[in-house]
Amino acid sequence: MDFNQASEENLFDHARIVGKPHARIDGRLKVSGQAPYAYERHDVAAGQLVGYPLGATIAKGRITHMDATQALKAPGVAAVVTTLDVAPLNRAESNVARLFGGDVVEHYHQAIAVVVADTLERARGAANLIEVRYAEEDAEFDLEAALERLQNLGEPAADVGDVEAAIAKAPVTLDAVYRTSAQSHAMMEPHASIVDWSDGKAMTVWLSNQMIAWTRQALATTFDIDADAIRLESPYVGGGFGGKLWLRADTVLAALGSRAAGRPVKVALPRPLMFNNTTHRSATIQRLRIAAGEDGRITAFDHAAVSHTLPGGSGEDAVNQTRCFYAGENRRVAHHAIDLHLPESADMRAPGEASGLAALEIAMDEMAEKLDMDPVEFRILNDTQVDPEDPDKPFSQRHFVECLREGAERFGWEARNRTPGGRREGAWLIGHGMAGAYRGAPTLDSGARVRLARGRLVVETDMTDIGTGSYTIIAQTAAETMGLAMEDVEVRLGNSAYPVSSGSGGQFGAASATAGVYAACLALQKKIAAQLKVGAQLKAEELRFDQGRILGEGVDLALADVGDGDELVAEDKIHFGDFKEGLQIGTFAAHFIEVAVHAYTGETRLRRMLAVCDAGRILNPITARSQVLGGMTMAAGAALSEGLEVDRARGFFTNHDLAGYEVAVHADIPEQEVVFLETPDAASTPLKAKGVGELGICGVPAAIANAVYNATGVRVRDYPITVDRLV
Ligand code: MOS
Repeated sequence: MDFNQASEENLFDHARIVGKPHARIDGRLKVSGQAPYAYERHDVAAGQLVGYPLGATIAKGRITHMDATQALKAPGVAAVVTTLDVAPLNRAESNVARLFGGDVVEHYHQAIAVVVADTLERARGAANLIEVRYAEEDAEFDLEAALERLQNLGEPAADVGDVEAAIAKAPVTLDAVYRTSAQSHAMMEPHASIVDWSDGKAMTVWLSNQMIAWTRQALATTFDIDADAIRLESPYVGGGFGGKLWLRADTVLAALGSRAAGRPVKVALPRPLMFNNTTHRSATIQRLRIAAGEDGRITAFDHAAVSHTLPGGSGEDAVNQTRCFYAGENRRVAHHAIDLHLPESADMRAPGEASGLAALEIAMDEMAEKLDMDPVEFRILNDTQVDPEDPDKPFSQRHFVECLREGAERFGWEARNRTPGGRREGAWLIGHGMAGAYRGAPTLDSGARVRLARGRLVVETDMTDIGTGSYTIIAQTAAETMGLAMEDVEVRLGNSAYPVSSGSGGQFGAASATAGVYAACLALQKKIAAQLKVGAQLKAEELRFDQGRILGEGVDLALADVGDGDELVAEDKIHFGDFKEGLQIGTFAAHFIEVAVHAYTGETRLRRMLAVCDAGRILNPITARSQVLGGMTMAAGAALSEGLEVDRARGFFTNHDLAGYEVAVHADIPEQEVVFLETPDAASTPLKAKGVGELGICGVPAAIANAVYNATGVRVRDYPITVDRLV
């Protein structure tokens, strides 16, 4: 089905099920332990062995010697595969570093061996018996030092008007540098796979992964085998945040271990290995210059940022949102990824915007202060309804101003203290801050298959549910479209045997996958119409599917009676085409925060968090709210405690476990409130939906930093805002 733009009014505007709160249909299975995660698949692949990975202990160089003799003799060991035993595997398009094979070490904790044994303990014990010697090579690990040597940022992503002239003549200007830390996804479920490649031919993989089709292709490329020989299942995923978009070492090691042992093998990456072996969000250093007239109108933005990557990667692009978030005639943004030999950086929740807005939205607060304007009013004044770089390109919808006004009203923004450090309750300094948020609303083509038999519908798509609620919103979409009850719909996800979907990433999953399911349901309706034995041939559009019945001219039939007991199967995909190229389609939010900072210890406590979101039709207020809450919580960690610390001599993240890398816990999070504006967007999908999964993290760190400033008078421009930065 080609999507050009949903009709002005459609089925979903009068929905019974879509857009309504519905508890997760997989919730009971998950909380009662009946939803098996990859490592717990005892029901598949009989005779599983356990693989334990070994990580390199240098960041760059070569392995000159590996001896696994002792490991092979250890009790219970079935096989050992070292990286020297295998020719360098192909690099899949999505992998910057090579995952295994050969003697080259490209980053610390790169996988260099897997030991396969009958138990985890025996595999781990034997892994410690492998002897490794290295020839280390010089490498660069220090972003600050590398930046000092950098000559220029290269070609800017945008350069509109005359930024230097505008800044030179502006009465009010800002020039400041901001830093965000490298961050780890730190999802609850580690990367884990069971692979059966016993015969070295057909490969079956049970894993925890966001993108089934990408990963299947990555496996085919890596091992140079036919994708048709590979089957993947990832029905439940215990968090991903971008860390599970890609093929990682767990799958590769389990596959090699299985081939060597002739048995199915399972590998979970041990937590202390994940931070350096898998991907992370890279750190950024950002310089922002903003110029405005006395009236508060912005005349110029200059946003220059660097991040880091292994050679060949792209790093965290922190400048993207600055191209279209606010008005202003003159604008230059440039991002440069500096090659460092730290572990591989890649996408993490709202890649780019999460870091870019953390800086931009402090800068906006600083500008408002210089202009002696309210930061909410300053943002409203500089709103734009068109792409500032291309005034002929309007936003399909943009209700950022409503988000700001609604948020200010609900939060009681007017009543705040305006003098930094001016409000105290005992030993606590109280502060209020706000920030805006923008995140794109991409969609990807997405397919599904539906099967109807005796009034029950089964939906099959390789879409994943990474804790987001995909099962539920897909069931809602199918039930709504086919006029069935939720109970009559079964959803099957995360299997390469099913049609290729968008997968879960980039906050495109919910909007894209539901559109694909809708397309498949319409294909089924066509099939049903063709089968109806009525006088004149009816078109599907002339039928109504309502409460388990098919209604139309001379037709009143139960869906359960369609097909004479045979299963009716239909498959289609949504194809988004290119009409959207003339539009900016985004999601927007305003965040409001209250903090208390201890006057003597510098400890920051969050007291209130409010988000008001403009993100298209909300498909399910319960699961969407959970997504935003999760984003806000992750942002609280990014603002106050999360940061990967680099060992600049040896090139690894030193705090590589959950003891040293501190994510926010329940005790850190106050009451959170999430408000969704009613903003269905016909330009986005047939359901008029967009994503929210990444919007919730955007802007929040800056809102916290601005609140801390309001509380203390200390302007912190480097994250995380730990106590040492407040004294
Ligand atoms: Mo997202 S960082 O594309 O999973």
